[in-house]
Amino acid sequence: MLMNSASTGSELYLDLLKKILTNTLHATEPDVDEIQERFVIQFLHHYIQGPAISMLPRCRLDNLQACLTDVIARNIPGDCIETGVWRGGAAIFMRAVLRTYNEADRLVWVADSFEGLPEPDAERFPREAKAYHGAMMRKAFDHLAASLEEVQANFKAFGLLDDNVRFLKGWFKDTLPKAPIERLAVMRLDGDYYESTMDALTNLYDKVSIGGYVIIDDYGEDSWTYCRQAVDEFRKLRGISDPMVQVDRPCFFWRRSA
Ligand SMILES: C[S@@+](CC[C@H](N)C(=O)[O-])C[C@H]1O[C@@H](n2cnc3c(N)ncnc32)[C@H](O)[C@@H]1O
Repeated sequence: MLMNSASTGSELYLDLLKKILTNTLHATEPDVDEIQERFVIQFLHHYIQGPAISMLPRCRLDNLQACLTDVIARNIPGDCIETGVWRGGAAIFMRAVLRTYNEADRLVWVADSFEGLPEPDAERFPREAKAYHGAMMRKAFDHLAASLEEVQANFKAFGLLDDNVRFLKGWFKDTLPKAPIERLAVMRLDGDYYESTMDALTNLYDKVSIGGYVIIDDYGEDSWTYCRQAVDEFRKLRGISDPMVQVDRPCFFWRRSA
């Protein structure tokens, strides 16, 4: 029997892309539920020293795909953004999904310092500062720095560097207030820290369409970041009661209803 080759081809393409981006074609991804010390070692080998282009576990790319296909299916207007892209993998995946569905009018915004994490204020954010200054983060992870040229080369390698991809280089507090973004359908926040998360929410949330998605990569992390506190404070301040849905231990999202 002849299969529906168009939809099968798209699904196969996106599935293969996820495996390449996460370096899971042959290898197994680190287990986020593993004890912290073991996870960090696995993380170092698999992502930082390996060829992965995203450090997202597979289920978070599945979640991103589900949010994107949902806004496409329901005609929720707006672009997509990831704030905090590292080597660009999740943003590349966003562009791939939009291309697959011929969504020619939606842009992908790629926001990062392209020089790694900002130094947290040690008095306000002691846990973040401790992690930031730790030997592993400084020496092995290089504060998660990946240059703009490297990220653009990664987009290009997948044939996905085109006019619908816009780069916002610099600290979120400087780039996001003046970014020429009109509307967002999917906003994925992966800047790790309290201020990086709060800067994104403060400057971008009002641009998220009703029916659009807000994904918080590190909401469930408590040992080295205050990301959850930033999100909880923002939601309280703005009276947001949309339920937060869990993707895996750290990652949560909500769908904007009002
Ligand atoms: C965990 S990584 C992102 C992982 C990425 N989403 C992926 O698919 O692999 C965090 C990124 O956030 C960036 N970042 C964090 N806070 C930032 C800020 N305030 N301004 C600009 N970039 C920031 C870092 O440079 C780093 O690239």
